[in-house]
Amino acid sequence: MVSNLPLFDSTKAPDIKNDFNPDASVVLFEGDVNDLLAAIPDKSIKLIITSPPYNLGKEYENRVGVEKYLDLQSIIIEKLYRVLSDDGSICWQVGNFVEDGEVYPLDILYYPIFKSLGLSLRNRVVWRFGHGLHASKRFSGRYETLLWFSKTDDYTFNLDDVRVPSKYPGKRHYKGPNKGKLSGNPLGKNPSDVWEILAEDWETCWWDIPNVKSNHPEKTDHPCQFPIALVERCVLALTDENDWVFDPYAGVGSSLIASVMHKRKALGSEKEKEYLDIARQRLISYFNGTLPYRQLGKSVYQPTGKEKISQIPDEWKAQQKRLLEQGADYK
Ligand SMILES: C[S@@+](CC[C@H](N)C(=O)[O-])C[C@H]1O[C@@H](n2cnc3c(N)ncnc32)[C@H](O)[C@@H]1O
Repeated sequence: MVSNLPLFDSTKAPDIKNDFNPDASVVLFEGDVNDLLAAIPDKSIKLIITSPPYNLGKEYENRVGVEKYLDLQSIIIEKLYRVLSDDGSICWQVGNFVEDGEVYPLDILYYPIFKSLGLSLRNRVVWRFGHGLHASKRFSGRYETLLWFSKTDDYTFNLDDVRVPSKYPGKRHYKGPNKGKLSGNPLGKNPSDVWEILAEDWETCWWDIPNVKSNHPEKTDHPCQFPIALVERCVLALTDENDWVFDPYAGVGSSLIASVMHKRKALGSEKEKEYLDIARQRLISYFNGTLPYRQLGKSVYQPTGKEKISQIPDEWKAQQKRLLEQGADYK
């Protein structure tokens, strides 16, 4: 499942610059995104893709706090809009903020900010998780979303570069003028707006399930890092080679890695030196061909039913029997 990337000629690996430079191919800026933004020319970025900080901690513990957080984000989003090219896109990946048991869906709260700038929503991608925390007073949360907005109607969308294998490639039209002809696309099908496979694999590994896999190959010390493959799909679909991809909240650099993997120019800002150092190291490992990476489109581990972890434990068998015998109480 884990593949090391092909070895790169280190003499050809680009310098990682610390400040924006139109001639650079990789820029990792240490500091506040606002300071980097000031140096980026208008309409120069093809894709802005990020998972913003959920800065909704102690100082943001009530609704007013959430509003303040969104106000601060809207100032940055307006600046991001300025640097986005006319055929460019923004992908904003968020989950829910939960306070006192009440759920605040951040994508819904963010939507008006993008809409007020004139951006058009193209997809609200559901990134579905296989595992997670078990809620007791609501259904357990198992997805986050990625809002994909384009700046204009004239946006790049390379569907053929992200098609996935069809389930039934041999399916044919059974009536009409095309009767008997193959109904699918030889390059595969549209991956749809529910991205399950990536998430299942990520989560299976992330949640440290014994006997399956103790750690995802890409896992670093960052608490909420993207799987590289999630960004790869957006990079391939929404940009062309040599375009700039910008992650304003770069963390450990997953977006930058996904970008350079596909010959895009990569730009990121991160205010925590600890994460920035990991990002730089991961980029260097990528160019050396030693970065642990879970390839886009690799099939996901499926339990066979024989593993101990996928069998009903003896303690539960007895408990289930008791509960079933109690009948009415159980219902
Ligand atoms: C949700 S994490 C992003 C993780 C990233 N997607 C990855 O794969 O590593 C958000 C990151 O934004 C950084 N951050 C928060 N505010 C920032 C700011 N004003 N400027 C730059 N980085 C910031 C945080 O330190 C954190 O690492």
